[in-house]
Amino acid sequence: MTTFDIDWVRSQFPALAMKVNGYPAAFFDGPGGTQVPQRVIDAMGGCLVSSNANTHGAFVTSRRSDAVIAAAHAAMADLLGCDPEEIVFGPNMTTLTFALSRALGRDLEPGDEIVVTRLDHDANVSPWTALEEHGCLIRWVDIHPADCTLDMEDLRRKVTPRTRLVAVGYASNAVGTINDVGEVVRLAHEAGAAAYIDAVHYAPHGPIDVSRLDCDFLVCSPYKFFGPHSGVLYGKRERLLRLRPYKVRPATDSLPGRWETGTQNHEGMAGVTAAVEYLAELGRRHTPGALGQRGALLAAYDALRSYERRLLAQLVPALLEIPGLTFYGITEPGRFDQRVPTVAVRIAGRSPRELAAYLGERGIFTWDGNYYALNLSERLGVEPSGGMLRIGLVHYNTAEEVDRLLAALRALAPRG
Ligand SMILES: Cc1ncc(COP(=O)(O)O)c(C=O)c1O
Repeated sequence: MTTFDIDWVRSQFPALAMKVNGYPAAFFDGPGGTQVPQRVIDAMGGCLVSSNANTHGAFVTSRRSDAVIAAAHAAMADLLGCDPEEIVFGPNMTTLTFALSRALGRDLEPGDEIVVTRLDHDANVSPWTALEEHGCLIRWVDIHPADCTLDMEDLRRKVTPRTRLVAVGYASNAVGTINDVGEVVRLAHEAGAAAYIDAVHYAPHGPIDVSRLDCDFLVCSPYKFFGPHSGVLYGKRERLLRLRPYKVRPATDSLPGRWETGTQNHEGMAGVTAAVEYLAELGRRHTPGALGQRGALLAAYDALRSYERRLLAQLVPALLEIPGLTFYGITEPGRFDQRVPTVAVRIAGRSPRELAAYLGERGIFTWDGNYYALNLSERLGVEPSGGMLRIGLVHYNTAEEVDRLLAALRALAPRG
């Protein structure tokens, strides 16, 4: 195992050379979308030059399109630990989740129940609450506001024999909490329900193994893990075959095509394959003996997770020392394995928007607001006053960037 080669990592991402008002750009906006390696840009451009045709034709560019699509399914299968036919591409996680909820709605009966949480991004809430139209009951799982963790006792109470689906996030895109999704899946299955895991925020930070998790569905968005704008749904083969998607008649009824409505974003798929290849190369550089593509990907997560953990250990205690700062989420370094390096704060006397604008002028990119984790922002009582400031670390960030951010926030803190 070698040390984390941050110089090599940063050399892969051309956007990291950007300057704003003379300051080097510091991208702490990863939870809203990450930057992409050069190879992703090249793969997308290359696809548009040499494979720009629709599928299943009797000529070379069409055959290449088929190959681009097959490669993208194989790449995502390597990343998630499943078969390529169990991978469904779409424009983004939200659209895929609405497609799945509409299909599920066709088979629901009045009185069936769906469990959602107050920690989740609204894309794993509204597609399910929409099913109230079918007479379905929505059960809400609360959080522990003190550390923004999911109230698992409440979840146990809310899962009943009438539950058809439990929708839970792998990690919170607002406060970084990692949920015990293995236990959520177990509880769902014990009640005869399906488990739908939103891994959008977890995927840039930790390895995913859908076979081991045994979840029925899992969604993620490649643009949050160094790829282009697109969405990916994993579904267990039997679930994807049993549910009835809305589809056009000439389109295939086999997997995964029955769920991939219309012509897909082929250049985006080429970019996704390149993003997965980037991660695999990171893994191979870190652990030269890593076995196969999946082994290399797991090695990449090993490497980036311990690097991110170091940045987090630099950031969190220093934030807690800033006068007037309120921190939302897990703060104890001994519990950092229960969170990803996404933190949310407020500073007394300043709106989150003011903070983000001040930082933005200095080339430091953060988000303010609720980032669509609307129920959480409401539950924490911060929604009426602009939500929180979100600082999202990923593995291309540096200790120097964290220092710059801390210095800028200290300058905004209330004086004695
Ligand atoms: C946790 C989480 N879930 C879902 C989404 C929605 O993803 P998409 O933009 O691919 O629809 C996001 C986007 O920010 C997210 O952070």
